[in-house]
Amino acid sequence: MKKTILAILMVLPTLASAAGGAHLDKVDYDLHNKESLQHGAKLFVNYCLSCHSAAYQRYNRMAEDIGLTEAQVKSNLMFAAEKTGETMTVALQTEDAKTMFGTKVPDLSVIARARGADWLYTYLRTFHTDESRPFGVNNATFKDVGMPHVLWELEGMKKLINADELQKHPGAAPKFEKISDGKMSAVEYDNAMRDLTAFLVYVGEPAKLVRYELGVWVIFFLVILFLVAYPMKKEFWKDIH
Ligand code: HEC
Repeated sequence: MKKTILAILMVLPTLASAAGGAHLDKVDYDLHNKESLQHGAKLFVNYCLSCHSAAYQRYNRMAEDIGLTEAQVKSNLMFAAEKTGETMTVALQTEDAKTMFGTKVPDLSVIARARGADWLYTYLRTFHTDESRPFGVNNATFKDVGMPHVLWELEGMKKLINADELQKHPGAAPKFEKISDGKMSAVEYDNAMRDLTAFLVYVGEPAKLVRYELGVWVIFFLVILFLVAYPMKKEFWKDIH
C-alpha cells in the first residue's frame, strides 16, 4: 500500500507537466533581487498594463515590497492612476477588448499561480510570425493566442522553423530563426523576461516576500529556544537518570 502511494506521488509531477503539452524552458528568477523586480515592474507598466490589469495590486504596496520610494513609483510607474493607494487597473474596457482582440483580456494578478513561472517565461519568448493570424503573430506556447507580440520592439521578430515537428510532437522545443532585430540581444531579452516573470510571481503572491523574512526569524527563534530548553531539560532530569 505504502509503495503504491509512493509510486503515485512520484508520478504526479510528471503527469502535471505532461498535461500542459507545450515544451517549457526553466526560469531562474530570484524574488530577493529587488533590481530584477523593479525592472519587471517597469516592463509590466510600460508594455502590459495598457491592456492587462493587475487589479489586486496596489501601487504603494508594490513600492514598499520591491524597494522603491513613492516618488519613484509616481514618476516611473504610474501612468494609469492618480494616487499610490490605487490598484493597477486599466482604461481598456472589457467590451472594447472583445471588439479589438475577439476575446477578454485577462487580469494578470494571479497568472503566475495559474500558469506557473516557467510557462510565463516560455510564453513571453515564443511569439513568432504567422500570416494566418489577425496580428500576423502566433505563439508556440499558447497556440492562436489573441495577444499581439507587444514586445517585438525589444525582441525583434522571429519565425518558427519546426512547425511540422511540433505538430507531430507537441512537447518538442520550438525552434526559431530571427528575421528582424530588436533593441535587445537574445540574452538581454531572456533576462528581461526573467525579470518580468519574477514580477508577475511577486504580484501573484505579494505576501511571499514577507513570509521569507518571517521564516528566517522563526528559525532563529527556534534555535535560541533549543539552546535554552536543552540545558534546562538536562537539569530537570539529572537526578532521575
Ligand atoms: C494589446 C493588448 C495587450 C498587451 C499590451 C498585452 N497583452 Fe497579454 N493578452 C492580450 C489578449 C487579448 C490576451 C488574451 C488572449 C487569448 O485568450 O487568446 C492576452 C493574454 C495574455 C496571457 C495569457 C493569459 C492566459 O489566459 O493564460 C498572458 C500571460 C499575457 N497576456 C501576458 C502579457 C504580458 C506579460 C504583457 C506585457 C509584456 C502583455 N500580456 C501585454 C492582450 C495584450
